[in-house]
Amino acid sequence: MANPLKVVAFAGSLRKESINRLLLRSVISMVPEDLAISELDIQDIPLFNQDVEDEDPPRSVVTFKESIQSADGLLIITPEYNWGMPAVTKNLIDWASRRNTAPGNVLLNKPVSIMSIAGGVTSVGALARRQLRDVIVYPRAIPMPSGDVGLSGGLSNFDGNGNLVNEAAREAVAQNLNAFAGWINRLAP
Ligand SMILES: Cc1cc2nc3c(=O)[nH]c(=O)nc-3n(C[C@H](O)[C@H](O)[C@H](O)COP(=O)(O)O)c2cc1C
Repeated sequence: MANPLKVVAFAGSLRKESINRLLLRSVISMVPEDLAISELDIQDIPLFNQDVEDEDPPRSVVTFKESIQSADGLLIITPEYNWGMPAVTKNLIDWASRRNTAPGNVLLNKPVSIMSIAGGVTSVGALARRQLRDVIVYPRAIPMPSGDVGLSGGLSNFDGNGNLVNEAAREAVAQNLNAFAGWINRLAP
């Protein structure tokens, strides 16, 4: 078996009890053998500021960007805030896209998979996912055209230990990961 494709991932929430990060951890535990997914550390990434970028970008930003650059694909799991993506998600995309901060625009030609989980029972984070898809195209990331995971119901999808137990949700994640491996291979130079 060839080496697994390397995917890095973040959940666009800084909240300790974030359901989007819970989903990310479950996704990591469900990974098929042709993928390896690791979580990016986003806790210390500051708000984008071009002055900071010009002077000396923090190590947290450079490490975050280098990890994306060296990965075969990027998984973004975002909450939905006010029918769009939260500032945390957008801020990470803005840093990642900047050519002036080493190692450059790390979204360029990067295959991306998108997921979201909402706290309420009606939303599936569709508007946040749509907006996210729009903004990553400008720095020329290549989002998988279909197969996003969008979940409602927040914590009801998980057991008391934070494991994703909703069968339909698990199936959606499994399908996404299989499709994402195919998408990365299809785009490989
Ligand atoms: C400012 C704000 C706006 C929100 N707007 C939406 C929304 O438009 N759609 C939605 O599904 N949930 C919305 N929510 C609820 C989030 O889905 C919920 O807080 C979720 O737990 C956030 O993700 P996290 O737990 O990963 O931080 C909003 C929450 C906040 C704090």
